[in-house]
Amino acid sequence: MLIARSIDELRQHLAGRQSPAFVPTMGNLHAGHIKLVQLAKPKGDSTVVSIFVNRLQFLPHEDFDSYPRTWEADCAKLEAAGCDVVFAPRETDLYPEAQTVKVHADPALGDILEGEFRPSFFIGVSTVVMKLLNSVFAGKAQGVAIFGKKDYQQLMVIRQMVRQFALPIEVMGVDTCRAEDGLALSSRNGYLSETERTEAVQLQLALRELGRGAVAAADALNTHLPALEAQAMAGLRQRGWQPDYLTVRRRQDLQAPQAKDALVVLGAARLGNTRLIDNFEI
Ligand code: PAF
Repeated sequence: MLIARSIDELRQHLAGRQSPAFVPTMGNLHAGHIKLVQLAKPKGDSTVVSIFVNRLQFLPHEDFDSYPRTWEADCAKLEAAGCDVVFAPRETDLYPEAQTVKVHADPALGDILEGEFRPSFFIGVSTVVMKLLNSVFAGKAQGVAIFGKKDYQQLMVIRQMVRQFALPIEVMGVDTCRAEDGLALSSRNGYLSETERTEAVQLQLALRELGRGAVAAADALNTHLPALEAQAMAGLRQRGWQPDYLTVRRRQDLQAPQAKDALVVLGAARLGNTRLIDNFEI
């Protein structure tokens, strides 16, 4: 497994490869990331995983400094999963000068939900993903980039960016990996205390309950949805959570659903100091 610390090194390692399959990550890899790597393997002539904690997508009060950096363990997992190249650029290499040119997601998609509660998050994500994609795929005939559906809105923002900038890359979304109790795997789960870890599954249960309510109210969804969503948030609040949103949206653009739209339930809530997100399609 080769390690590239700069864009130049990455491009040297990928010289002669025509169709990389790429998994961008911020490290602290868990089984969900490894599943993405395993799915990437047959999709290209080399499997590339980036590890880069992207300062641009963190707000000043968020966990950029404390975000777990587990380089040795990550490399061991990637080697075992058959990764060919780890791209772990230094911050000064990916951002050699202040990144004054940024990619702004469509506000209709990027300023709602996560974008409302984490303003500028999708600017940071879109900008770094554009840069990572350019680093990996410049000059390549084709390629695949693979993202988890746990970050559902992120996946949609990236798909739209790749489509509208006509990047010759296929974006693949992969179902969320879950622990035995149903908790979506996330690098941030490591912040949870033992008691919080037991409680954490309640986010997913609340979303499932909300989803069932939405299906039952399908004929008059617009009338019933606000109350169902408020009830789901109140339920979590009573258990000590601070929910940002629990909501049912249409899958195509995450706007309020109309009758017969395909639906997705999404939620974000803070348990103690840990903010968890989850979603599922109904
Ligand atoms: O989902 C993540 O881990 C990050 O947002 C990503 C896509 C690697 C960009 O920093």
